Amino acid sequence: MMDDMIDHLAGLRDLPVWQPMPPALRKSFAAGLPQTGTDPAALYGEFQTRIQPYVTGNTHPRFFGWVHGGGNAVSMLAELLAGAMNANCGGRDHVGIAVERQVIAWAAAMLGMPAQTSGVLLTGSSMANFCALLCARYQALGPAGRAQGIGDAKLIAYASAGAHRCVTGAMDMAGIGADSLRKIPLDGNFQMDIAALRDAIAADRAAGLAPFLIVGTAGSVDVGAFDDLTALADLAAAERLWFHADAAFGALAALSPTHATLLRGIERADSVAFDFHKWAQVTYDAGCLLVRDPLIQRATFAQSTSYLAAAPRGLAGGEPWPCDLGPDLSRGFRALKIWMTLSAHGAAKLGAVVDHGCALAQHLAARIIASNRLELLAPVALNIVCFGISGQHDEAVANLVADLQEEGLFAPSTTTINGRLAIRVAIVNHRTEQTDIDAFVDEILRRTPKS
Ligand SMILES: Cc1ncc(COP(=O)(O)O)c(C=O)c1O
Repeated sequence: MMDDMIDHLAGLRDLPVWQPMPPALRKSFAAGLPQTGTDPAALYGEFQTRIQPYVTGNTHPRFFGWVHGGGNAVSMLAELLAGAMNANCGGRDHVGIAVERQVIAWAAAMLGMPAQTSGVLLTGSSMANFCALLCARYQALGPAGRAQGIGDAKLIAYASAGAHRCVTGAMDMAGIGADSLRKIPLDGNFQMDIAALRDAIAADRAAGLAPFLIVGTAGSVDVGAFDDLTALADLAAAERLWFHADAAFGALAALSPTHATLLRGIERADSVAFDFHKWAQVTYDAGCLLVRDPLIQRATFAQSTSYLAAAPRGLAGGEPWPCDLGPDLSRGFRALKIWMTLSAHGAAKLGAVVDHGCALAQHLAARIIASNRLELLAPVALNIVCFGISGQHDEAVANLVADLQEEGLFAPSTTTINGRLAIRVAIVNHRTEQTDIDAFVDEILRRTPKS
């Protein structure tokens, strides 16, 4: 299996980016629970024919959709080691917790946050944003909020209109309500309009509501825009609000000497959510929450129960445990693949991956601008390029994208920019080269009628 998987990663270019599952195969996964076992060697054969060819495709250099990381072989092997250890990293005194703390300290240092910053690894930024919002709720309501819920506290949060959907979801799941999230309009650079934010906070205070949280986006999912985090930090401090940064993929720009300035101000955040499974190329899943004040993180999640009591010595030592820093009790050894990936490749190489992706995005933007048939639909701040095809309706654009995906050639995604369906390319995978970008543009032009 290991030899095959190394060969698989080495030979990705010869494979389709993605292919739809044949209907019979899809149906075959509605079988009943197996009553007797199957030989693992035969099962591996089934994996090779029924599973391996039909996965998402985000390891492929021509996968450009959404914001999917490409993974790396060291992380893959670390998953094997973690599986063999089968450590439960919810707590107790063992090396898995030490590795996780090391990873959290590296993440805080990467973003310029204080050394005492605490954190926890989670599935992804959706969970990390949710947990950050719970910390902000704790700061606003204290222990009573945990015991009695939000009651009639009229908590209000603010994020840009370009914020990820998980911020809305977090408000909903935290019991505060999605309607209590103010979506502040964007300016011409797709950044949150700070004057509009200031006005919204003043209007809410005047109406007797209780602003508690500003969420800045560092790398928006649509177009890769960065809010002015310094201005948001200033405003949050002046208004005494929790300042959270959703840096799901943008956080890794901190490792790039040329793009790190985009993150200026993130070091002042009360909390940050980001993913190692995106630009850091760790295999899924590997989300991270950082919280500036360790006491608030612990106060937000800790519970005391006799069957989980910590002890001064022995295996029940080693507090604080991750189960008191987030919602999960049983947790896998996620930290190992992150620690091994960062150690194997080093910060400078990961920063170079960020720069490479951004340079490819600029190359794509330049080809779009040079063409008289393609139109750039948003500024390219980072690694995301949104463009349209002159004179083509949304339906034609959607069909073109689906054709490219179904033929296994390229996997871009789509989004809506100013009411128009855009082809969206996010270059996250370290395997993508300029030849892939050129082939993509050439193929689109080949399929697009000349006007
Ligand atoms: C800006 C932003 N926030 C949050 C998320 C959600 O992250 P995850 O998919 O890891 O839950 C994404 C995902 O692409 C994102 O781009």
